[in-house]
Amino acid sequence: MQEPTGPEREISGAKIFAQNCARCHGLDGKGLSEVAGVRDLTDPGFMSTISDERMRRSIRGGRPPTMPSFPHFSEPTLKVLVAYVRALSQPELQLPPPPPPGP
Ligand code: HEC
Repeated sequence: MQEPTGPEREISGAKIFAQNCARCHGLDGKGLSEVAGVRDLTDPGFMSTISDERMRRSIRGGRPPTMPSFPHFSEPTLKVLVAYVRALSQPELQLPPPPPPGP
């Protein structure tokens, strides 16, 4: 994968998610049961129906009545966040590093 350049290199998707989204979506993205109608962001079936463009719109504009809008997110922040959320439903994007070569 290409190293990100520019300001987004300084931004952590995990941190933005933990600070702004986890109170409803959970740190793992599955969604807390006490949040009515929350979406499971780790569900590949659901997430495959949502384009990056729609995700940006949903985050920027919110999803009434429950999900608040985040109109203050900068372009690089959105980019990193969308990539992070995307990876939640694509375990192949977050494989652990391969084990060290054996003896
Ligand atoms: C107050 C609770 C709450 C917070 C905070 C919240 N969400 Fe949501 N989110 C929801 C609910 C509820 C839904 C389902 C709403 C719907 O489908 O209309 C949802 C839906 C979504 C969807 C699917 C949207 C779509 O287009 O169908 C995405 C993606 C998402 N949230 C990402 C995020 C991200 C990223 C953040 C943090 C920046 C966040 N959410 C913060 C409650 C929340």
